[in-house]
Amino acid sequence: MRSYTLLACAKINLYLEIVGDRADGYHELAMIMQSVDLCDRIHIEPSGTDSIRVTCNHPDVPCDSSNLAYRAAELMRSEFPEYFARYGGVNIYITKKIPVAAGLAGGSSNAAAVVVGINLLWNLGLTQGECEQLGAVLGSDVPFCIRGGTALATGRGEKLSPLPDLDQLYVVLAKYESVKISTAWAYKTYRATYEETYIRDPEHIEAYGQKVHSGPIVRAIASKDSAIITEELRNDFEKIVLPEYPQLVSLKQRFIEAGAIGTLMSGSGSTVFALTESHSEAERIKAYIEQELHHPDLKLWVAQFSPTGIKVSE
Ligand code: C5P
Repeated sequence: MRSYTLLACAKINLYLEIVGDRADGYHELAMIMQSVDLCDRIHIEPSGTDSIRVTCNHPDVPCDSSNLAYRAAELMRSEFPEYFARYGGVNIYITKKIPVAAGLAGGSSNAAAVVVGINLLWNLGLTQGECEQLGAVLGSDVPFCIRGGTALATGRGEKLSPLPDLDQLYVVLAKYESVKISTAWAYKTYRATYEETYIRDPEHIEAYGQKVHSGPIVRAIASKDSAIITEELRNDFEKIVLPEYPQLVSLKQRFIEAGAIGTLMSGSGSTVFALTESHSEAERIKAYIEQELHHPDLKLWVAQFSPTGIKVSE
């Protein structure tokens, strides 16, 4: 029985609006998600035993059931017990490149790769849509991580509408290693401050998603108008995260000073990204920030927008 190696892309949010409350306790969102080609490598092989084992090269990543990739394998085992009985357990080796706890969906993307990888390993024949449905059980961002590209995400973040690929853009990602923001904290703090603005009525919520779909940023993506895209960048989490972490505000200022066409925090942070229209410009801005801030705790990466989420590596 063969093994599979998959590349699991990071994502950034070009737009993240917290719209309201849902009956399931989650927040209703309107987001534009974009895959970028900073990828973790996930190798999946039959273990020859009946257990699931996760190994990772990054010291901060747990290898037990608190790892979403582990939970993805458990989900596949419980959904397809007859295939598990036939093929047995799996060893999952994760080589991290995506920074951890960074607002880049690294954990969700690893789980997405495990769903796609086990579908191949066990010859389940699931469609991408069926893999995405399983992914939604694991986490709100997992369906997007499976699909990748550019998409409008509504609901908890799991309802996806594809948008045209934005292949002309590059990104510089910057993260202070010591700044770790818990997503649960970010949602709780946002709720405590802005709850009175939340929309609750399902009809209004539905209309809201449609408003964003026909709004300026989606139109700008369709016409590949980088100037308007950068004007329309939005992340509601910035309202509560930036006042707590002034170094992220300085980072954004430095990116603009360096000539980035736009800058935003991704997800609930703490990664801040800058957009450029060429690879060389992204490398120049990265070098500028490294030299100007010269902070041992600050790590930077250059990546290109990617049209895919999970890729099977040759
Ligand atoms: O779906 P996921 O497990 O990634 O979400 C992590 C946490 O983020 C949830 O427990 C919830 O507190 C919060 N969340 C939310 N609304 C969303 C997505 C996540 O409140 N749409």
